[in-house]
Amino acid sequence: MTDNRVLIFDTTLRDGEQSPGATMTHAEKLEIAELLDEMGVDIIEAGFPIASEGDFAAVSEISKRAKQSTICGLSRANFKDIDRCWEAVKHAKSPRIHTFIGTSPLHRAIPNLDMDQMAERIHECVTHARNLCDNVQWSSMDATRTEWDFLKRTVDIAIKAGATTINIPDTVGYTEPNESADLIRRLIAEVDGADEVVFSTHCHNDLGLATANSLAAVNGGARQIECTINGLGERAGNTALEEVVMAMKVRADVMPYATGIDTTKIMNISRRVAAVSGFSVQFNKAIVGKNAFAHESGIHQDGMLKNRETFEVMKPEDVGLAGTSLPLGKHSGRAALRDKLEKLGYELGDNQLKDIFVRFKELADRKKEVFDDDLIALMRVSEGAEDQLKLVEMSVTCGTGGPAKASMTMTIDDAEKRIETTGDGPVDAAFNAVKGLFDHSARLQLYQVHAVTEGTDAQATVSVRLEEDGRIATGQSADTDTVVASTRAYIAALNRLIVRRERTQVGFDDKSVSYKDA
Ligand code: KIV
Ligand code: ZN
Repeated sequence: MTDNRVLIFDTTLRDGEQSPGATMTHAEKLEIAELLDEMGVDIIEAGFPIASEGDFAAVSEISKRAKQSTICGLSRANFKDIDRCWEAVKHAKSPRIHTFIGTSPLHRAIPNLDMDQMAERIHECVTHARNLCDNVQWSSMDATRTEWDFLKRTVDIAIKAGATTINIPDTVGYTEPNESADLIRRLIAEVDGADEVVFSTHCHNDLGLATANSLAAVNGGARQIECTINGLGERAGNTALEEVVMAMKVRADVMPYATGIDTTKIMNISRRVAAVSGFSVQFNKAIVGKNAFAHESGIHQDGMLKNRETFEVMKPEDVGLAGTSLPLGKHSGRAALRDKLEKLGYELGDNQLKDIFVRFKELADRKKEVFDDDLIALMRVSEGAEDQLKLVEMSVTCGTGGPAKASMTMTIDDAEKRIETTGDGPVDAAFNAVKGLFDHSARLQLYQVHAVTEGTDAQATVSVRLEEDGRIATGQSADTDTVVASTRAYIAALNRLIVRRERTQVGFDDKSVSYKDA
């Protein structure tokens, strides 16, 4: 590998999925991992195996399936976490154990360890991990707020104990680009053995600086960037993969670094992550936003027609986006649908195409013209075979003469149930029906409706966010009938909440003193 090769470490399935409301199902995690592997991500952080049986199963299965990527699991600095992580990643062709502890004064206070105790623990845990796996990543969490001397000491201990990658996280998105570059540069210059390991940067976007800080760290000598698709992640998110990769590609003149990413796969994975996480991409988001390549003002359009470089620094095709074309209709066949979806950046297997073709036909029967945005909305509707709750049939009547009435049939764990309810308007009546069929204590935190295209026959995309005992889940759906879309989105959020319920709340700060107990 040359000196200017930057490794891309994707943590969409760990740091991204951990953000409130972004829960993915097992099947969705496998799908995203496959796309990451295919697009050339060097390391996939597939989850936090100790967190739940579900996380463990996902990391194990992804490890078995990965073709090219290294598969990494996260573990706190204790033997139990590390052993569990190894059990999950050991199936991979190229496994990695990632272990960490918070090293800043605020983080040291939580397990109540002084510097010497923490230093000993780092030594023991990295040594233990290295005895299991040749590829071990150490992270001094909250590195950018850790005292310089102590940070240097933690890195030195981790390298001596056998860590092969040293990650310097900006856990709370506090640093700025000059500081980010200097920190890595100084560590490489001052820690013994630094040239034997890969330095990594892991930035959060609280001040909107994650991309700039990651690229600055690379200028300072880091050769691994940790990032997520669409910048998914807690609070303001993590560094966005598409941004750092495209910045290095487009500005190779000033950032002469290479990655192994096939950038034409960016749009497809961005849309899939938005669909399965329920986190829509903002319209003006760099690289993957709906407007990133749209030119509406007259002066821009004129310039673009004369020479596209007038207002574009990269080609839409570079990120897997083809120009818009004619809408489809009810006579369009399977081949036309596949061709159109491929142009939009979706690569579908035969079974997926079969499912989406049925949904496309239903839509085309109700809507004369099916536009690109309609198809993107259809692709976002993710209904998993593993979902516990499924809508079978519903109807709602409403008007000026009294409360709205809903009748609904759902299957709950394959048993069919039916109910009739009323409500204050059609959506309320439908939601009451769901609650009547599946009792729960989740609170509605957000209910949002957007029209996908123009016209009264437009599809509505609905997002629903639910909260139950501090757990948050988001569901989305689209339909020409707003009440149906709302009900499906509500059921999707409940299905995700059920997945979340199975997960123990594992805090990052492990208070256990018996960290050596396996
Ligand atoms: O933000 C952070 O510090 C993390 C670590 C676990 C690497 O996600
Ligand atoms: Zn993080």
